[in-house]
Amino acid sequence: MAPEVPESIRFLFEKEIGLGAWSWGDRMVWNYGKGYTDGDVEAGFKIFLANGLNFVDTAEVYGNGRSERLLGQFLKRAETPVIVATKFLPFPWRVTKGSVVRALKRSLERLDLERVDLYQIHFPSPLMPIERSAEGLVEAHRMGLARAVGVSNHSKNQMQRVYTVLAKYGIPLASNQVEYHLLNRSIEKDGLMERCRELGIRIIAYSPLAMGLLTGKYTPSNPPPGFRGSKYGSLLKEIHPLTQLLASIGQDLGGKTAAQVAINWCICKGTLPIPGAKNAIQAEMNAGAVGWRLSEDQVLALDELSDRITD
Ligand SMILES: NC(=O)c1ccc[n+]([C@@H]2O[C@H](COP(=O)([O-])OP(=O)(O)OC[C@H]3O[C@@H](n4cnc5c(N)ncnc54)[C@H](OP(=O)(O)O)[C@@H]3O)[C@@H](O)[C@H]2O)c1
Repeated sequence: MAPEVPESIRFLFEKEIGLGAWSWGDRMVWNYGKGYTDGDVEAGFKIFLANGLNFVDTAEVYGNGRSERLLGQFLKRAETPVIVATKFLPFPWRVTKGSVVRALKRSLERLDLERVDLYQIHFPSPLMPIERSAEGLVEAHRMGLARAVGVSNHSKNQMQRVYTVLAKYGIPLASNQVEYHLLNRSIEKDGLMERCRELGIRIIAYSPLAMGLLTGKYTPSNPPPGFRGSKYGSLLKEIHPLTQLLASIGQDLGGKTAAQVAINWCICKGTLPIPGAKNAIQAEMNAGAVGWRLSEDQVLALDELSDRITD
């Protein structure tokens, strides 16, 4: 049986969806400045809030700090409270627990906040032992700089090690943010999802649209640009039946889009998806993925097709 979720991290379990802010200011993967501007992402942020949603995920490394700075500016103009998550990047020279707190303080400066709601280790450091980065999270939490702490891209075993360190101090491990969508269901198969359920850790599903692929707008003759084209190019031909199924389920549900169905599938699996949005249209559409659920048969049909495509 799943344990009772401690009050201090319940806010994460109450969220159905978040807004991913990786593309805000990022030129390397998302071509920031080409086709979307600061004004566009702020419009997306505002629409997201207008839909009654308020969980935003950023990281110090997104746009080399620009994503956090933009979010900090948008927060000042926001009329409702926003739940802010950011992440520590384990650069090779960051090997002490103090480096976690120092990095968080710089994030807080960019965000112009006194504390964040969730501070996450972006991925396990190759040079800092897992236990030491966990001690860094303990420090951040004890200093009141992070309301809750989590990890990202941690395997079942790595996550367990962080959980154990935090437990010694009575601090719950709030979340593990991992890649999860219909084209990557490894956490269902390697036991991570089950372990999270057993320990009461919220799974935050990143890239729930497989970086835009599951919207159905990319095809072999219209691949996404840059890094995404090379990561997913070979899959584009094979995913057509899946994007068609997403679209047809959406139609059966009275006009939901493929993107909304793909995001809702993550919610149905018990995760908290955080789709990225570059503008108001995308944010509005993604906000429409909440407040309803796919049927069990629809989830099963998507599971079966995703298995056939990815196996
Ligand atoms: N912890 C980690 O290591 C990690 C790694 C990756 C992501 N993340 C987090 O997860 C968030 C989401 O992941 P992601 O940004 O990689 O991918 P995603 O959410 O799967 O896809 C986002 C992209 O899809 C397109 N899109 C979004 N909504 C759309 C809509 N309704 N209609 C059409 N196109 C739409 C946009 O790009 P185009 O318009 O250019 O297609 C958008 O930037 C990130 O922002 C970040 O916060 C974390």
